[in-house]
Amino acid sequence: MKISVIGLGYVGMCQAVGLAKLGLDVIGVDISKERIAQINKKIPPIYEFGLKELLDELVPSKFSVTANIKKAISDSKIAFVCVGTPSKKEGSMSLVQLEGVCKDIGLALKKKKARFTVVVKSTVVPGTCRDVVIPLLEKYSGKKFPKEFGVAMNPEFLKEGTALDDFFNPDRIVIGSSDKESLKELEQVYSKFTCPVLKTNFKEAEMIKYASNAFLATKISFINEIGNICKKLDMNTNTVAKGIGLDKRIAPYFLRSGIGFGGSCFPKDVNALVYKATEMGYHPRLLRSVLDVNRDQPLKLLALLDKHGPLKGKKIGILGLTFKAGTDDIRESPSLSTIKELLMEEAQLYIYDPKAMDRVKKIFPHLNYLATAQDVIDNSDIVLILTEWSEFVKLNYGNKLVIDGKNVFNGQKPKNYEGICW
Ligand code: UGA
Repeated sequence: MKISVIGLGYVGMCQAVGLAKLGLDVIGVDISKERIAQINKKIPPIYEFGLKELLDELVPSKFSVTANIKKAISDSKIAFVCVGTPSKKEGSMSLVQLEGVCKDIGLALKKKKARFTVVVKSTVVPGTCRDVVIPLLEKYSGKKFPKEFGVAMNPEFLKEGTALDDFFNPDRIVIGSSDKESLKELEQVYSKFTCPVLKTNFKEAEMIKYASNAFLATKISFINEIGNICKKLDMNTNTVAKGIGLDKRIAPYFLRSGIGFGGSCFPKDVNALVYKATEMGYHPRLLRSVLDVNRDQPLKLLALLDKHGPLKGKKIGILGLTFKAGTDDIRESPSLSTIKELLMEEAQLYIYDPKAMDRVKKIFPHLNYLATAQDVIDNSDIVLILTEWSEFVKLNYGNKLVIDGKNVFNGQKPKNYEGICW
């Protein structure tokens, strides 16, 4: 079965190589010619563990790429739509890319005789498949759902950094549709997986994605709030998190306190859910608090820093720019909001990250980017750890004050050390 995957960002790349590795023939589609050229040369366009090896193995025999979406639709039977749905200023979700793709698929379907199924993997608020995707496909193809084409919602639950492992070992697969044929086809695509497959309607599948991310974000803001209280009481939150995580009902996952969650998903998705709920006349107090706690969490680190005198002219080392380790993604990274605050205080910054310095140089071109983490320590008065890269554990911090926002030290800590919630 030939499958196209439209949008080769983090989700699309992992979906495409994952399906290809399972033995399906995959055509990847992206509007970026540069990205297409990179993939053709087997160069991963993003940093993701294991991706390079899979590109070496699968391009071009099982995974080919093109910028021509119409040709990809005409040559395949199912399309997974993996384009971004970024936040608009007010917090709602932008559907511009998804609408564009629906139009292109619709136009291609007009000329296609065989039945085709469109699978939405992009994160979209409940109601989008029914109210936006299907009407656009019908409008541009002149065909009718579900008689002449299929649509399904199949949310993704991949974590950057372990996305390929998550693809091959999912906890569950959720497939939402009102069309039995689309459900059957997707079951066939995922037939090699042994995890539970939950079949739902469109809106439930769309909501499961939001509720999952909102729940995980809530766990993090919860443990950060407990952590802020523990810090005031001079206690170690990590021991408390361990103690509560041993309760099976709570579970030990997503209970790491620190400078708060970032990335392209939690902040955007919780905001979009809050926006949607408010639009429907419901005020989601808990979810708003999750965002409030998260927005203030990096400031806790700055408050610790303030205790050591005025920041103006002080040499501050920044270790870590990405929103978490294992990725080159800097979207909504608490490290960047911390840098902005420190620049307003006129601190002198020395910066290192193993994966994201080039990206950050485009935003802050005039800062001191150093070649190694040790150089940062050697040049600074105070060092802030803002991403949990494992290489930061083994450095020689000497007597420098280290403020850790990510709890990177399991064993021996630097001599002069302070944790944000521990
Ligand atoms: C998240 C979800 O975990 C995935 O299931 C989902 O598919 C994805 O969003 C998405 O919607 O596409 P991701 O953003 O890649 O994945 O990263 P996570 O590992 O979930 O971390 C998110 C943020 O929370 C990071 O800033 C991380 O440092 C922070 N975090 C995570 C904590 O502060 N404490 C924790 O205990 C766990």
